[in-house]
Amino acid sequence: MKGVIEHYKQYLPVTDKTPVISLNEGNTPLIRARYIESLVGGDVEVYLKYEGLNPTGSFKDRGMTLALSKAVEAGSKAVICASTGNTSASAAAYAARAKIKCIVLIPEGGIALGKLAQALIHGAEVLAVKGNFDDCLNLVKEITRKHPITLVNSLNPDRIEGQKTGAFEICDSLGGAPDYHAIPVGNAGNIVAYWKGYKEYKEIGKIDSLPKMIGFQAEGAAPIVKGHIVKNPRTIATAIKIGNPASWKKAEVARDESGGLIEAVTDAEILNAYKLLASKEGIFVEPASAASVAGVLKKAKEGYFRSEKRKATEGSPERSRRAKSEKIRIACILTGHGLKDPDRAIASIKKPKVVAAKLNAVLKEIGF
Ligand code: F0G
Repeated sequence: MKGVIEHYKQYLPVTDKTPVISLNEGNTPLIRARYIESLVGGDVEVYLKYEGLNPTGSFKDRGMTLALSKAVEAGSKAVICASTGNTSASAAAYAARAKIKCIVLIPEGGIALGKLAQALIHGAEVLAVKGNFDDCLNLVKEITRKHPITLVNSLNPDRIEGQKTGAFEICDSLGGAPDYHAIPVGNAGNIVAYWKGYKEYKEIGKIDSLPKMIGFQAEGAAPIVKGHIVKNPRTIATAIKIGNPASWKKAEVARDESGGLIEAVTDAEILNAYKLLASKEGIFVEPASAASVAGVLKKAKEGYFRSEKRKATEGSPERSRRAKSEKIRIACILTGHGLKDPDRAIASIKKPKVVAAKLNAVLKEIGF
């Protein structure tokens, strides 16, 4: 398959002259989740967009292919980003491919092992800053204001343009828009990108409805939910441990225009969804990604989807008939692969039993 620029060229700010820096990202599977449906209950279909299957293991690759292609087109010799890990992994890989310098600022001790390994092995200059993600972002914003280095955080509009292709893929695959779009919210670029993608597809008549955007932050790092900056964000979901998101206001617009919500889920709820995705659906994600599913389960318990369906059936008889006969479709974005954060997986489950290298000992343990 082609990468997202080749595939969705006509909807992206590229020309025939743009050098395409790609790792054939995108085209990730949209997987039906029957077990999660059974927990949500009612007439729902739940779909998981497994973005962990992108080339560097997260959704960032959709935006990074465009950001690096445009940077090279503009003659840039270096890119820089602040990151909780995935942005740095992706920037490092695409910069290696583009043969330009990549500098990343990460919170010291604050990113998962796999992500650190990726940034280092792809040859980025990695600086571990004695501070959190928000400190790193302030630094890179300041640096790029004064020096000729391209910022590749989601403040760069090319990142958003590339990431909106995730919405196109969901609609192409479902033959329409889902009713709800559940997504983890950290620096808040991705919720903005998806909303842009859905709106553009509707404008050109590819879909005839829009989803409600339902975003979820971690309880200890939920500035949008709380309505104020969180100075010391805390959560086991390190990817979304952010106290002052760059796209805060735009995320609120996406929430409000779509009639959706942005709420918090606890670390316990995130870990529960994380383990459930792995053990019941066979899908290994990193903790932050499980926030979308944790949010859907929480809202289902509150009866949110049922009462929303009731609302949809009120009004015209035609609308009522349609809403009654059709199932509610929920798309959950699983943003990053579980292998990014092996420490968390091992800390969350029982260690393997140690047995003697003897047939009897093994048979006894496995109950035969
Ligand atoms: N899920 C994962 C796995 C992430 O890495 C991120 C963000 C998000 C969700 C949230 O997306 O920021 O667009 O709201 N990671 C950034 C990074 C901050 O530096 O890798 P968002």
